[in-house]
This record gives sequence, C-alpha cells and structure tokens, in this order.
Amino acid sequence: MAAGRLPRLTCFFTFSVLGLLGVCIPHDVEASNEGSVIHKNVGETVELKSDLLSTEGVTVAEWRYGGIRLTSTGTAKENPQFKGRIQINPQNFSLTVRNLTPQDSGDYSFVSEVNYLQRPTVTFTLRVHEPIKKPLLSIINVTRDALNRSCTVFLECSTSVHDVSYSWTVGSQKKSGSKLQHVIRPQDGEITFTCTISDQITEVSSSINQTCSNDTSTDKPDPASSCDLMPN
Ligand SMILES: *[C@@H]1O[C@H](CO)[C@@H](O)[C@H](O)[C@H]1NC(C)=O
Ligand SMILES: *[C@@H]1O[C@H](CO)[C@@H](O)[C@H](O)[C@H]1NC(C)=O
Ligand SMILES: *[C@@H]1O[C@H](CO)[C@@H](O)[C@H](O)[C@H]1NC(C)=O
Ligand SMILES: *[C@@H]1O[C@H](CO)[C@@H](O)[C@H](O)[C@H]1NC(C)=O
Ligand SMILES: *[C@@H]1O[C@H](CO)[C@@H](O)[C@H](O)[C@H]1NC(C)=O
Repeated sequence: MAAGRLPRLTCFFTFSVLGLLGVCIPHDVEASNEGSVIHKNVGETVELKSDLLSTEGVTVAEWRYGGIRLTSTGTAKENPQFKGRIQINPQNFSLTVRNLTPQDSGDYSFVSEVNYLQRPTVTFTLRVHEPIKKPLLSIINVTRDALNRSCTVFLECSTSVHDVSYSWTVGSQKKSGSKLQHVIRPQDGEITFTCTISDQITEVSSSINQTCSNDTSTDKPDPASSCDLMPN
C-alpha cells in the first residue's frame, strides 16, 4: 500500500427530470474497516492502527474519541481522561492507549488528509471489560409435583459485572438467560446445574447440585421441603 495514494473514485450516474446527473465519491476499499470491534481487559494496552504507513504528504492526521479530538498533527493536545496514557506514533500515526479503563470504551476514529485530500475515516469500537469472577448461583425454589413426583427447580445466576451473557448446562441440555426453570425426576439422581458467564474474552462457570428426593412419607405444604437442597 503506497503512502499518499490518491483515493479511488466511484461514480454514480442517474437520470432525472433535469437530465443526466453524475456523482463521484472518493473511496478506498482497503482502508474500510466498518464495524471493527476490539475487546480488551481493564489495565491492558491497545494500539489502534491508522491506515497511513508514512508521513509523506500528510496534511491532517487526527484521532477522535466519540467525536472529540484527542490529538492532532504537530500538537500534543490531550483529553484529560487519557492524560499520560495515550501516544500517537509519529511514523505511522497509530494510537496507543495504556492502562485501559472501562470508561475508555467507545468509538475511535482516525481522520486524515494527504496532500489536502481527505481520506476515508478509519473507525474502531473499543470495549474494555472488567475482570469477571465466578458467578453466584442460587436455587430460588423447588416445587414438587404430587402427581408425577417430579421437581421443578428455579435457579438464578448473577454477577456484579454488566454486559455479560449467561448460559446454562444441565446434562447435555443448554439454555441461555440468567434464570433457569428445569424439571428433574427422582430417578435422575443428583443433577448438576452449571451456569457460565462470558464477556467475549473470558468465560467463568459455577455449578450446583440438586436432587428430587423420593420422600413420600408426608405431603408437606411447603413444596421445597420435599426436595433436598445441596448447594455447591
Ligand atoms: C508504528 O510504529 C511503532 C514504532 O516504530 C511500532 O512499534 C508499531 O508497531 C507501528 N505500528 C504499525 C501498525 O505499524
Ligand atoms: C419460584 O420462583 C419463581 C421465579 O422467581 C416464581 O415465578 C415462582 O412463583 C416460585 N414458586 C414458588 C412456589 O414459590
Ligand atoms: C410433571 O408435572 C409437571 C407439572 O404438571 C410438568 O411440568 C412436568 O413436565 C411433569 N414431569 C414429567 C417428568 O412428566
Ligand atoms: C422412587 O419411588 C418409586 C416409586 O415408589 C420407585 O419405583 C423408585 O425406584 C424410587 N426411586 C428412588 C431413586 O428411590
Ligand atoms: C455434584 O455432582 C458432581 C457429579 O456427580 C460431583 O462431581 C460433585 O462433587 C458434586 N458436588 C457437590 C457439591 O456435591
């Protein structure tokens, strides 16, 4: 990829009542990176690449975060949020952000001009994730069906971190969501419920066992008491 290459032009022609209209817009296929999402953990460093490989003919080179200018050519103007943590490489204009915090998540774009010709904007979406711990798993209640002796178990999985996805594994069955309703039978014995949370980088699981006991000695009004709770 040659530095200072002129953008290619795409032209559209359309007929209208006024006659033939021609519209040309610059584009650069290789520089297009729409929808580029980068996932990082808190404390890590990210390098966002510009699409310029040389300083030759560069008249504007500017990184923006959510539309706000971070730094521009020749100046070291810094947003207070990134004070002491960002650096723009003078050779290739890549933006390095160190010691990432969740607040650094968002859209970063690189705006540039070569020989006063505007180039396509390069955009990245950065997502900085908090470290996730083992989820908290709890059995909300267990109700026993008197007719078929099966137990309906309600479970809940939780974590303090937002933006995680929840999934459950019970034997060979898989389900999504933070809550689970599952029917077990006495003859199934001890059933292991596993909840897994993931945030695109990390996956953590917790398990809990539950049986549906065959206790028929009394028909207790409290349905939960007829099933043994065995929290993990
Ligand atoms: C930009 O230059 C720096 C220092 O020369 C180098 O460490 C970095 O890998 C370069 N980045 C790219 C994307 O070429
Ligand atoms: C068990 O918990 C679920 C979910 O919170 C609830 O909908 C249901 O009514 C509860 N059942 C009993 C018997 O408490
Ligand atoms: C037992 O009955 C309950 C409630 O009617 C039902 O949800 C469950 O699927 C039944 N279980 C079995 C194993 O047939
Ligand atoms: C539960 O009770 C049923 C009927 O009384 C019996 O057939 C079955 O073997 C028992 N299961 C267990 C695990 O004790
Ligand atoms: C739960 O069941 C699994 C599989 O039978 C067993 O390996 C595990 O030790 C059990 N955990 C508890 C807390 O009983």
